[in-house]
Amino acid sequence: MKPINVGLLGIGTVGGGTFTVLRRNAEEIARRAGRPIRITVVADKNLDLARQMTEDRGQRTEEVRLTDDAFSVVADPEVDIVIELIGGYGVAKELVLKAIANGKHVVTANKALLATHGNEIFKAAQDKGVMVAFEAAVAGGIPIIKALREGLSANRIQWIAGIINGTTNFILSEMRDKGLSFDAVLKEAQRLGYAEADPTFDIEGVDAAHKITILSALAFGIPMQFDKAYIEGISKLDATDIRYAEQLGYRIKLLGITKRTAEGVELRVHPTLIPSKRLIANVEGAMNAVLVQGDAVGSTLYYGKGAGAEPTASAVIADLVDVTRMHTADPEHRVPHLAFQPDQLSDLPILPMDEVTTSYYLRLRVQDKPGVLADITRILADEQISIDAVIQKEPGEDEDQTDLILLTHQTREKRINAAIAKVEALPVVAGKVTRLRLEELG
Ligand code: HSE
Repeated sequence: MKPINVGLLGIGTVGGGTFTVLRRNAEEIARRAGRPIRITVVADKNLDLARQMTEDRGQRTEEVRLTDDAFSVVADPEVDIVIELIGGYGVAKELVLKAIANGKHVVTANKALLATHGNEIFKAAQDKGVMVAFEAAVAGGIPIIKALREGLSANRIQWIAGIINGTTNFILSEMRDKGLSFDAVLKEAQRLGYAEADPTFDIEGVDAAHKITILSALAFGIPMQFDKAYIEGISKLDATDIRYAEQLGYRIKLLGITKRTAEGVELRVHPTLIPSKRLIANVEGAMNAVLVQGDAVGSTLYYGKGAGAEPTASAVIADLVDVTRMHTADPEHRVPHLAFQPDQLSDLPILPMDEVTTSYYLRLRVQDKPGVLADITRILADEQISIDAVIQKEPGEDEDQTDLILLTHQTREKRINAAIAKVEALPVVAGKVTRLRLEELG
């Protein structure tokens, strides 16, 4: 059978992994795809690296052409599928759009590109009758795109909550295990190679927001709306709150959450208390997990490696196999990019954060004297906020201040904000109130 020809743009960690796995499992992959899948050309600015990564046990592989001109690959008439592993929204966007315009199918791991320009890219692909496959863009090796787009297509999806950034999950696990501060663990994570030299996208929740934006679009059949996502990372998280949460039976995880409500869709990333007894609360280290709630199936949980050479290659190659199987099919008979038919997308709005409904953990530094708790609970009651649990720590020796921790039942974010402003104005409350969101995920 004639092989399908692939051009690979960017041969870093994931590109190298893709090369290795395709070569190692070539026979099985061809049996699955119906024909061999062959990388015929690799483009990378670093040709030495490209040479090294494409060698087979130190031997040059003749059939792979190397180039530093990615634009020549997307224009190459021999190439059927382009794998884009460059990342970012600059040249990657230009190359993907050129590949589509030239009638090539695209496989990409680029969540930033899809979350911000996905609507334009999918429209271009649809007009041209080509596929853009992106399993590797969310949660690495976990086939969550496949699950949402195909396996769960009977369901009305209600919500998704995911640990979809390994770097931050590693940091949070270490902070809890070792009782260390965020800064100390981040330094260690960088030393071990778990965090990038510039970790901003990971620690500030941007990477997770790109991924939950993609999942939200697939779950609810809405366009990509990254600009409307609420994003809060973990860099301000205090180890004290991890400890108190633990005492109350909760773990803190950076969750990407998207939820369907009567008024619209919640789309948010923030540190979240979740009950320690939930399976997802026990996902530790750099692992990823995604919990999906559908009306027919109930809860389903997907767990695995969210990054790394071969786990991500696993997703890239699954897309290559899909494209190889489907590329001769009528475009209307393929799985739609966003799970729903493109003319059936919904205009459900993304809710502003003020309108989001969730529960809260509040930590306050208060004077330890009669009436303080009464003042605070009165403010919460005035805002219609119901309290679920309260703990007050013993003040230290010679201290007249203590930590007060409150868990609330569900309320609107705007109500808790109004209550916090009033609580902070009380003379018996010192400094700012620490506010974290809490989800039971039941
Ligand atoms: N930087 C990501 C993470 C992996 O830490 O999970 C790639 O999406």
